[in-house]
Parts: sequence; structure tokens; C-alpha cells
Amino acid sequence: MSGPPLVIAEGLCKDFPSRRGQKVRAVDGVTFSALGGEVFGLLGVNGAGKTTTLRLLSTMLRPSAGEARVCGHSLLREAGEVRRCIGFLSAATGVYGRLTAREMVAYFGRLHGMDDRQISQRTEELFGRLQLEAFADVRCDSLSTGNRQKVSIVRAILHDPPLLILDEATAGLDVLASRAIVELVKDCRSRGKCVLFSTHRMDEVEALCDRVAIIHRGRLLSCSTLSEMRARAGGGRIEEAFVAMLGEAS
Ligand SMILES: Nc1ncnc2c1ncn2[C@@H]1O[C@H](COP(=O)(O)OP(=O)(O)OP(=O)(O)O)[C@@H](O)[C@H]1O
Ligand SMILES: [Mg+2]
Repeated sequence: MSGPPLVIAEGLCKDFPSRRGQKVRAVDGVTFSALGGEVFGLLGVNGAGKTTTLRLLSTMLRPSAGEARVCGHSLLREAGEVRRCIGFLSAATGVYGRLTAREMVAYFGRLHGMDDRQISQRTEELFGRLQLEAFADVRCDSLSTGNRQKVSIVRAILHDPPLLILDEATAGLDVLASRAIVELVKDCRSRGKCVLFSTHRMDEVEALCDRVAIIHRGRLLSCSTLSEMRARAGGGRIEEAFVAMLGEAS
């Protein structure tokens, strides 16, 4: 965990319109940085603001206030450059039902400027790692939920970007597939990538995260290393520390 900062978020805010013309602040002054070679986890209860934060950082949403530098580029002024250097898996990442798994990832590889040889090498590697080979030529609308999710992950990381932003990557995946994702993330870290991810699974946090930020009602409650979190739980599991911090905040 010694690479350059690939995410520097400063005071990010996002307001959504609510009923009766009022605004709801879904993300409220989020400030943190994440480094190359680091897995940075975002933890929070349902509705805390994790997805909105990740969508802001991946330029899918424009902040109501605040700014970030992503891989050295300004979120507000260089959205195109930011998009080129991230792989974003959103909970809403769709697949094109009429394309096969292989066609689908190739389509996105070409959009990222990869040539056919690069696309087929990476597809083979990633389909192999995620046990997708048998489904490579199956239409996406015939895939199971988990296999569709795996194809979405391959689609997001095919171009091997320096920053991966993964929103609940293992949601809906079986034990083996989840493990494969965990190994993939570790491998990315060892190659100097920054992985920013949200999850509800404490086992993944324990297995993967170098640092964890806890987000609650749109605000960052804390940002600490795993061992700092364990220490807060009196040497216990980080789930205890998480629940205790939420209790203190309420
Ligand atoms: N497009 C939108 N329009 C209006 N409100 C929104 C929109 N997207 C998110 N919100 C609201 O913003 C808040 C944060 O939502 P967000 O999806 O970021 O939470 P989350 O931490 O990802 O939750 P979960 O664990 O359930 O995925 C919630 O109150 C949500 O209802
Ligand atoms: Mg979410």
C-alpha cells in the first residue's frame, strides 16, 4: 500500500430532489483518498450513500458540491479522462441480452480501444479465472444471475485500468465465485491497482481491505485500517466495531 493516490475526494456532496420540491443530501462532504496497491472498502447500512459515492467518483453522477481527482484527473473538468482510467461495476450494470458473454465483453473492450488480440487474451484469462468458459457463447439473457454478474465484472475490468470501482461485486455470487473475485482483487492490488469497493460482507472486508471507510447518512464516520478497526472492537471482529460505530453515531 505505497502507490500514488488514485482517488482524492474532497467534500463530495450529492443532493437528490425529493417530494414537495425539497432536497435530500445523499452524500454529504465525503473526503478521503485511496492509493495504488490498496484495497479500500466502503461500509454502510442500506441507503448510507455508498453507491452514490461510487457513482460520483465514476462520473455517472455530477456532484452537487465538492471535487475529486481520479487517477490525476479532475472529476469536474476531465470526466472523459477519468472514465478511461477506471473500471466501474455498478449494481445496475446491465448486460445486452442478445449478445453472447464473449460478444458482450468484446464490445466493451473495443469501446476501450483494445485490439482483437488483447481482447481475446484478456477474455480467456478472466473467463478462466471466473469459470465462465462454458458460458462464453451463451446469450446473456440465458445466463443465471450469478454468471451475468461475472460477465459484468469481466466487462468492467477487461481493459485492466489502474482504478477499479466495484459496487457489491459479489452480490448474488456463490462461494466459489466470490472467492474467485476476492483472488482477482488481491491480484489487482499486487499489480499496483487501487480497488475501491462497497460490500455488506464482513468476511470480504476482513479478507481484502487495507482500509475501510464507514459511511452513515451520507457522511464518512471513520476511515481506518483493519487493525485499527479490530482494536476498536477490543481485538474482536470488525463487525463489532462497525455496529459500535453506528451506535455511537445514532
Ligand atoms: N437517483 C436517486 N434519486 C433519489 N434518491 C436517490 C437516488 N439514488 C439514491 N438515492 C437516495 O440516496 C441515499 C443513498 O443511496 P445509495 O444507493 O447511495 O445507498 P447505499 O449505501 O448504496 O445503499 P445499499 O446498501 O442499499 O446499496 C438513499 O436515501 C437513496 O434513497
Ligand atoms: Mg448501494
